[in-house]
Amino acid sequence: MPRSFSETPEKSGGTEESRVNRITEALLRWYDENAREMPWRGIADPWGTWVSEVMLQQTRVETVRDYYPRFLRRFPTAAALAEAPEEDVLKMWEGLGYYSRARNLQQGARQVMAEYGGRIPDSPEELRKIRGIGPYTSCSIASIAFGVPVPAVDGNVIRVICRLYSLTENPMESRNRERIEKLAGELVPEDRAGDHNQAMMDLGATVCVPGTPDCDRCPLREFCRACAEGNADTLPNLPQAKPPREIAYDLLILRRGDQVLLRRRTEKMLQGLWCFPLLEGSRSPEELETFLQQKMRLPVQNLREAGEAKHVFTHQVWRMKIHTAELLRDAPAPEGYSWIPAEKVPDVPMPTAMKIPRTILEKNGKQ
Ligand code: ADE
Repeated sequence: MPRSFSETPEKSGGTEESRVNRITEALLRWYDENAREMPWRGIADPWGTWVSEVMLQQTRVETVRDYYPRFLRRFPTAAALAEAPEEDVLKMWEGLGYYSRARNLQQGARQVMAEYGGRIPDSPEELRKIRGIGPYTSCSIASIAFGVPVPAVDGNVIRVICRLYSLTENPMESRNRERIEKLAGELVPEDRAGDHNQAMMDLGATVCVPGTPDCDRCPLREFCRACAEGNADTLPNLPQAKPPREIAYDLLILRRGDQVLLRRRTEKMLQGLWCFPLLEGSRSPEELETFLQQKMRLPVQNLREAGEAKHVFTHQVWRMKIHTAELLRDAPAPEGYSWIPAEKVPDVPMPTAMKIPRTILEKNGKQ
């Protein structure tokens, strides 16, 4: 339960309540001196908070700093995003990764227009009904944009809480996770919930960092059980992540006069983004030529290897061998593929994995 400082007369004693109050006060004092400046802080615009919180899921603050103002200039309101073509939204998101966030944000904006008269709701319960807003984001928006005293527990906050209370069990197990949520909730003050949650995030990002916490600079050092026990660097006790699956691809930059063959992805991963043809596996030039002719009805000439590219996703690593070729004679795009004028390629949303192939296409065009 969140609480107010004024409700509990501070005694310099050992009750759990006074300890909690002292932790919260020390953290806010630290935040008032050390808060990182960010363009989405102090804005009094729930739409801006929503956009920033979605961008900040799985993405570093430094990356979001670039994207956030551009995105908000193009889509200054939920209404503006709701009305935009999905392709424009993905283009503005290009390079941020986890593109389902952008598609869900747009669907969420449409839902707010249709079901909430364009007003973003202020309670975590209502926010959670909106597409793309989960338990964490509902609480971060409610606390930051509307001052609702709920904890916003992301990876940084899990780390801070595990250390503060020396919780040595796996925080991803639901029983332990619930305990963390409860302890995090007890720290949230009634009057500055948004600042408190962001202070926890900043502490986790700058001081109470993974692996090597800087306990000497920590405003919560005197309260931290892990620090006292000397095990802060070992917490949280997360299970070993599975290594990502490696997939080999032949990637084809195929030209038909001024056009190039692309495919708009329909798979869940990178859905709606455009890629050069990616053929799983690794073939010799002869095998590739035969494959293109027989399986895709694409007669090619001047097939050449033009380089390699690797892209690391969370669960996959793509190892791409890049080939260039030209159509030998006119042929239609295979089903799901499109011939796109080469000069339009920079306008379509493409994932970062296509950056090197795109550069190769640009270089070839200039020869
Ligand atoms: N991560 C997620 N939301 C954040 C915020 N508001 N400030 C800093 N880091 C964050």
